[in-house]
Amino acid sequence: MDIAVIGTGYVGLVAGTCFADSGNQVYCVDVDKTKIKNLSCGIVPFYEPGLEDLIKRNTKNKRLTFTIDSALAIQQSKVIFIAVGTPQDEDGSSDLKYVFNVARTIAEHMNESKIIVLKSTVPVGTHQKVSDILQKNTSHPFAIISNPEFLKEGSAVADALKPDRIVIGAESKKARDILIRLHRKLKAPVVATSPQSAQMIKYASNAMLSTRISFINAIAILCDKVGADIKDVSSGLGLDPRVGRSFLNAGLGYGGSCFPKDTWALIAFAKKLGYDFKFLRQVDMVNADQVDYFLTKIKAAFPGGLKGKILTVLGLSFKPETDDMRQARSVVLIKKLLSLGASVRATDPVAIKNARPLLPRVKFFTDSYQALSGSDGLVLVTEWAAYAKLDFKKIKKLIRQPYVFDGRNFFDPAKVKAAGFHYFGLGRP
Ligand SMILES: NC(=O)c1ccc[n+]([C@@H]2O[C@H](COP(=O)([O-])OP(=O)(O)OC[C@H]3O[C@@H](n4cnc5c(N)ncnc54)[C@H](O)[C@@H]3O)[C@@H](O)[C@H]2O)c1
Repeated sequence: MDIAVIGTGYVGLVAGTCFADSGNQVYCVDVDKTKIKNLSCGIVPFYEPGLEDLIKRNTKNKRLTFTIDSALAIQQSKVIFIAVGTPQDEDGSSDLKYVFNVARTIAEHMNESKIIVLKSTVPVGTHQKVSDILQKNTSHPFAIISNPEFLKEGSAVADALKPDRIVIGAESKKARDILIRLHRKLKAPVVATSPQSAQMIKYASNAMLSTRISFINAIAILCDKVGADIKDVSSGLGLDPRVGRSFLNAGLGYGGSCFPKDTWALIAFAKKLGYDFKFLRQVDMVNADQVDYFLTKIKAAFPGGLKGKILTVLGLSFKPETDDMRQARSVVLIKKLLSLGASVRATDPVAIKNARPLLPRVKFFTDSYQALSGSDGLVLVTEWAAYAKLDFKKIKKLIRQPYVFDGRNFFDPAKVKAAGFHYFGLGRP
């Protein structure tokens, strides 16, 4: 099938490449000329394991084309995916200007009947607004489908090739069947529903995951107060099949391009509908407080204040296996540390380039031991697997003060303490 994917960000690029890999002819379109030029030469604009090889293979096979020529891509394709960003607007709601711009572009260049698929995360009812734009600007027939994306950065290729579900929200049975056929090779369960339900499934999924994170972080604070260990609590809790173990890891809270934005968007959307989503507002508040809670532990370790202290942050990206810095907890925490007078050093396996402009007062290192040498404390923010191999006995010899602040409960406290450190996790004795 001939497919256009408009927007080659984390979602569009991965989805487009995976559609090409399953035998379709795919045009990946973006307005960013440099991005398209680089992609045409096999240069991937962000770090995503496995993506570069897949792009190279499919460009070589001529199944994947990168272009800024949206007219060509639209005219050649039966199915057109909209995968542009839906960033947060001033009031927290989802800013849909990029989606609507693409809708106008599609209408302008349509030459025959098309299926237009909303892959971007959009509030319920957006399909109708996109439909209105198309109605006004083209006489060609079209069907609109809502097909939200659930891939996770860091494992996006694996998620796209083996999704746990495909949600297809369509009013037209014919269009829905074409989309089901397009995804058939993936052998994933299909939820065929209305566009409204499809869009709600996406927001409800992210709201549920954010809720679990805030819930376990609140329990971790109680664990601190009573000397319980949140790791054991999460294990014991998660063994209940009604609860499950995933997303019950206490830490610095959620960040990234989706959970904060989609939580705010759902709160704002509910407000417009006349419903005060108090529950989700609390989830967001617990998340915002979590960095401050961690900070109280750091401050308590230095009763004379943080002025003149050097703290080394390990891990900057919003989670491991990505270089995405959007809403990364590292930025929130580091800005607070700097405002308290600390000097901050930082390292990350892949995100330094993206972190640099966000944190101009930070000194960056590629080597963790160099970053820790002469500093007053290690602050783990992103739990990259490589940090599990750190030699704490070696660090003890390099560091000025033996403090480990573990913002993800990643290290084994016994091992860290045995190397002569004071260990501070979240909800761990
Ligand atoms: N990143 C994720 O993990 C993830 C997961 C699921 C869903 N989503 C959702 O998917 C959507 C895209 O997210 P993303 O992270 O890929 O965004 P992104 O910001 O990484 O990429 C968006 C791309 O769209 C391009 N673009 C903007 N306007 C355009 C236009 N008129 N024509 C062509 N290209 C245009 C931009 O240049 C950019 O390259 C969002 O709605 C997001 O909420 C993201």
